[in-house]
Amino acid sequence: MEIQHQSVLETLQGRIALVTGSSQGLGRIIARTLADAGCTVLVNASNHPENAERVATEIRSTGGNADVCCCDVSSESNVNNLFKQLLEKYGAVDILVNNARLDPWRRTGEMSEGEWFSQVIDVNLKGAFLMSQAFFAQACERRWGRIVNISSVRAFRPAEPHMIAYGVSKLGMHALTRAYAHNGAPFGITANTVAPGVVITENIKKRLSPEKYASEIAAVPIGRASACEEIADAVLFVIRNSSVTGETININGGMYYAP
Ligand SMILES: NC(=O)c1ccc[n+]([C@@H]2O[C@H](COP(=O)([O-])OP(=O)(O)OC[C@H]3O[C@@H](n4cnc5c(N)ncnc54)[C@H](OP(=O)(O)O)[C@@H]3O)[C@@H](O)[C@H]2O)c1
Repeated sequence: MEIQHQSVLETLQGRIALVTGSSQGLGRIIARTLADAGCTVLVNASNHPENAERVATEIRSTGGNADVCCCDVSSESNVNNLFKQLLEKYGAVDILVNNARLDPWRRTGEMSEGEWFSQVIDVNLKGAFLMSQAFFAQACERRWGRIVNISSVRAFRPAEPHMIAYGVSKLGMHALTRAYAHNGAPFGITANTVAPGVVITENIKKRLSPEKYASEIAAVPIGRASACEEIADAVLFVIRNSSVTGETININGGMYYAP
């Protein structure tokens, strides 16, 4: 039998893609990448809706389709209301990228260890869970869906004291991926994790001193941070390739294996 060579990668034209925390940084570039691939992108943020508006406008100005869907991913009622509204307006949400995270530099002096831990877990992990639950039921009905969880190399490496909650929240996302990959397989739903190392974003440049940034880069075997576009490319790959599910794509310049 002659094997026909044809692209098995799926076209995303007309798909509805919700990217949490896409008002800046990596999420913004994932949103733009999915819009370039033909999706209508729903740009999400919680604290600064004006930034989400700016990203949606930016996408539309280059011919893409984008709308804003602000909501606090850690609030169950917000998430459920959001999905209700989106289903009324669009009839479907096909792709969910769980990218939102609590800014690790946001902790104030007054916050106790326990309060901080709970807040980080609430946004980074519970948020991804609530969004995935709301996404899953409606995607099952149409027998097509994609979940991508944005983790971090810090899920696998011993965390510095101030990053313990962050590392724990990120490791939990891998369990979410496995569960939704397993439960979603009979319904045409895939779930994967993309785990970056150090990524160049507006925030990282703003938050880290030049010395701290240099020491972060020194820990990357290839000697540089990843560009947001390199991470977004992996997100696009796992969305378009329906035979990849339950996997983690590590993009960290070799940090995963570094001593
Ligand atoms: N940057 C890196 O070097 C790096 C490395 C490894 C992994 N990652 C992962 O990549 C992802 C993006 O990182 P980033 O550096 O681009 O993040 P970032 O610049 O800190 O942006 C975080 C985004 O999440 C939103 N957000 C925060 N709390 C939210 C909530 N409760 N509900 C909804 N949205 C919320 C923020 O908007 P508002 O503040 O307006 O709500 C913002 O859009 C994260 O999952 C991060 O862990 C990043």
